Amino acid sequence: MSIHPFPWQHAIIVGASSGIGEALARALAAGGADIALIARRADRLEALAADLNHRAGRPAAFWLEHDVRKTAEIPALFQEAATRLQGLDLIVYAAGIMPRVGPKSYPTDDDLATVEVNFAGAVAWLNQAAVRFQRAGAGTIIGISSVAGDRGRRGNPVYNATKAALNSYLEALRNRLAVHGVTVLTAKPGYVQTDLIRDLPLPGIIPRIPPAQAAAAILDAAAAQRRVAYIPGWWRWIMLIIGLIPAPIFERLNV
Ligand SMILES: NC(=O)c1ccc[n+]([C@@H]2O[C@H](COP(=O)([O-])OP(=O)(O)OC[C@H]3O[C@@H](n4cnc5c(N)ncnc54)[C@H](OP(=O)(O)O)[C@@H]3O)[C@@H](O)[C@H]2O)c1
Repeated sequence: MSIHPFPWQHAIIVGASSGIGEALARALAAGGADIALIARRADRLEALAADLNHRAGRPAAFWLEHDVRKTAEIPALFQEAATRLQGLDLIVYAAGIMPRVGPKSYPTDDDLATVEVNFAGAVAWLNQAAVRFQRAGAGTIIGISSVAGDRGRRGNPVYNATKAALNSYLEALRNRLAVHGVTVLTAKPGYVQTDLIRDLPLPGIIPRIPPAQAAAAILDAAAAQRRVAYIPGWWRWIMLIIGLIPAPIFERLNV
């Protein structure tokens, strides 16, 4: 169940051009927030902003084209977004990539790109928000991590590692900022029907949820000031079981 209205008026979403980021933008705009949409695909951002503005009947969204690997751009872009929004009370870092990795492949270029997008970009964007929110004594930070960060699984070592690093960074931000009135949510989705996993051979027994369902659960968790939220919540139990598997057995399992 969603908590409406959401408590945010001015939001930045990094990685807003598709999937979970787009669904978060749609939910927030429908809830009355103004949103800065950030990603590389300008055509998708432009179409999304136009659609959000049309549905809201007001200028609810604008977009900024940006590649998170260009970290030198981020301080100025952050200021531009906050200024055009006329305030900021929420930032979501949803940008992420998951290049396919064969069982005998160790693709360093893809791995380093994954580190840059999934982790370094998050640090560069969320550090900006941390400074602003700490000074203001208020604000919400949402990092879109993954269940993949809970354990080093054989399928995609560096994707898992970037999510584990993101979890640790977000926990540390939370420990710094909670005393300043700032909420930091680590969102850990399981399988969400987006381009990221479209061609992955996943176990059919575990359902994939639509991005809109994931977005609603993420925003509900943040509005409730949760620290960590599995999306949907039953992934907590799956990951608890996976976490309990002893290492010698885990080495033999393709999970
Ligand atoms: N789908 C799942 O099952 C699942 C599960 C757990 C966690 N997640 C996480 O959820 C987040 C969103 O992924 P998604 O599933 O919604 O997939 P998606 O539809 O592929 O969205 C990925 C987003 O990241 C942006 N992005 C990628 N590289 C970027 C770059 N260099 N600079 C700026 N933006 C960049 C993309 O925008 P552009 O390409 O336009 O730049 C897009 O907006 C990711 O962090 C992913 O790891 C997804």
